[in-house]
Amino acid sequence: MSPDLTTAYLGLRLKHPVVPSASPLTNTLDGIRRLEDAGASAMVLHSLFEEQLVLESAQLDHYLSYFTEAFAEALDWFPDQAQFLMGPEEYLDKIRRAKEAVDIPIIGSLNGITPGGWTAYARAIQEAGADALELNIYHIPTELGQDGSYIETLALDTLRAVRAEVTIPVAVKLSPFYSSIPNICLRLAEAGADGLVLFNRFYQPDLDLESLEVVPNHALSRSEDMRLPLRWTALLYGRIDADLAITSGVHTPEDVIKGLMAGAKVTMMASELLQQGTARLGEVVEGVRRWLEQREYASVEQMQGSMSQAKSGDPVAFERANYMRVLQSWRPDPAGQLYREMLR
Ligand SMILES: Cc1cc2nc3c(=O)[nH]c(=O)nc-3n(C[C@H](O)[C@H](O)[C@H](O)COP(=O)(O)O)c2cc1C
Repeated sequence: MSPDLTTAYLGLRLKHPVVPSASPLTNTLDGIRRLEDAGASAMVLHSLFEEQLVLESAQLDHYLSYFTEAFAEALDWFPDQAQFLMGPEEYLDKIRRAKEAVDIPIIGSLNGITPGGWTAYARAIQEAGADALELNIYHIPTELGQDGSYIETLALDTLRAVRAEVTIPVAVKLSPFYSSIPNICLRLAEAGADGLVLFNRFYQPDLDLESLEVVPNHALSRSEDMRLPLRWTALLYGRIDADLAITSGVHTPEDVIKGLMAGAKVTMMASELLQQGTARLGEVVEGVRRWLEQREYASVEQMQGSMSQAKSGDPVAFERANYMRVLQSWRPDPAGQLYREMLR
């Protein structure tokens, strides 16, 4: 019998756990249709940004020119207006049209870092028909005077403001750069997050030494990038009242299986689909099905959390033990220079 691939995420029953995350693919109706044709079980739309909502049209112009005049190099850092691909009305219209065009759940995405009037758009996203909402808190703290608890309070207040606007489920997509991931995740869940999406990938600009320019780096991920969310999913599974989703580094059926065993309800994909095309999604789902069949798993739910740390006793000791083992078991490559030097 074919294994049951269904999973429950944000109160939605999905036909399998492979979900396209926010990317240019989910920014057009054509991309949305192609992803459904490829077999997506749900998808997260490209984000609507706080900056778009707060500083529409002329105000946005002013804001951008202020920044770019103040710091010439800011041109390279700050998106120009054309990069805000659409205004809020267009975004809401896209949700409406996506809901008409496809049968799978559509998750809207708001990207912001401060509680404020813009969070009212969460309600508009719900009214446009979104089945759930992902709040992406992409915050790079640059102020010397803002301490960690201030940053965390900002995130929690932003979530509360969004939560107060909607009745649909809300997931929070967060960064891995908090002093205590378990604590911020716990508090986000307590503040009303139904799901936690681990993690935002921070784009790290490089410096071009020839042109002396800042080079924006939109490097796509590789499977190794999944280890960070994998670890935290395994550590959080069963201890927090929120569904866990993994984003970053999900490229293959094996990546999906690892994510599920760590405790994810869904694993999300962007880079792999941007590189390989939307049809790759169907191949990954098929690979997951085959993997389960070959090992006689009856369902995805049977494996979810099976390799989490919920039952492994003291997670701090576990992490320390693994850390020490990794450091102490390192050996130089016998074919390498260092090995020869050590033999001398
Ligand atoms: C070109 C591009 C555009 C993206 N746009 C968004 C966005 O609008 N909102 C968002 O929350 N994440 C956005 N992301 C992040 C992805 O949804 C995803 O979390 C990240 O790329 C890590 O997953 P991956 O390893 O599968 O690429 C974008 C990623 C890429 C590569």
